[in-house]
Amino acid sequence: MTVTELPEPRFAVAYHSGFGHTARLAAAVAAGARDAGAEVAMIAVDAITDDGWHELDESDAVVFGCPTYMGNVSAGFQAFAEKTGRRCINGTWQNKIAAGFTNSGAKSGDKLQTLMSLAVFAAQHHMLWVSLGLPPGWNSSSGSDQDLNRLGFWLGAAAATDVDAGPEHVQSADVATCRHLGARVSSVCRQLIAGRAVTAAARGPAAWSAPTR
Ligand SMILES: Cc1cc2nc3c(=O)[nH]c(=O)nc-3n(C[C@H](O)[C@H](O)[C@H](O)COP(=O)(O)O)c2cc1C
Repeated sequence: MTVTELPEPRFAVAYHSGFGHTARLAAAVAAGARDAGAEVAMIAVDAITDDGWHELDESDAVVFGCPTYMGNVSAGFQAFAEKTGRRCINGTWQNKIAAGFTNSGAKSGDKLQTLMSLAVFAAQHHMLWVSLGLPPGWNSSSGSDQDLNRLGFWLGAAAATDVDAGPEHVQSADVATCRHLGARVSSVCRQLIAGRAVTAAARGPAAWSAPTR
């Protein structure tokens, strides 16, 4: 098998959104991943089906997202997280790539707590966390609120949406930042798939199998 024959990354966005704002950002993550060549499934975790669980189990990468409610992940996301206990014990998601995003009303909010909770959740599953990979924006006299990563987070993508504004008012810079995250995770995923294929091939024909999902 040559590198050009490797499968496209299989990617899932597992998100909760109470009022539709974070759902817009989830769609942006998915769009970025598709732009980078991934097959993407969108999974609203508060309405997850058996197919949704199957998709998560089969994905190479899962990007987790939720609003920040009361300074942490939303209850809708946490309820989903608590349903993954058996998968956590069994290592079902180990060595999948993971990343995260959140949205809240305040510019801080405190979204870092939410991103840390998402990263710890991924670590409990022995997943491989990918950071945002952007310098902080809007932090100098030449910066603006149109900058990528305008809120200056490193662990994942963060957005702020006025609490009295509808989902159509999610900031374009935050949408672009989430789109970047999707593309970055897809790119890292592609490299991991290729690296695993090379490693398996180097072990010899007896050890060769299709790249690990
Ligand atoms: C129960 C609740 C708690 C919230 N807590 C916070 C918070 O701690 N920090 C903050 O900045 N915004 C907070 N917000 C505002 C939401 O994060 C914000 O409206 C967000 O855009 C909602 O996203 P969603 O439509 O995807 O649910 C809270 C909203 C709700 C409903």
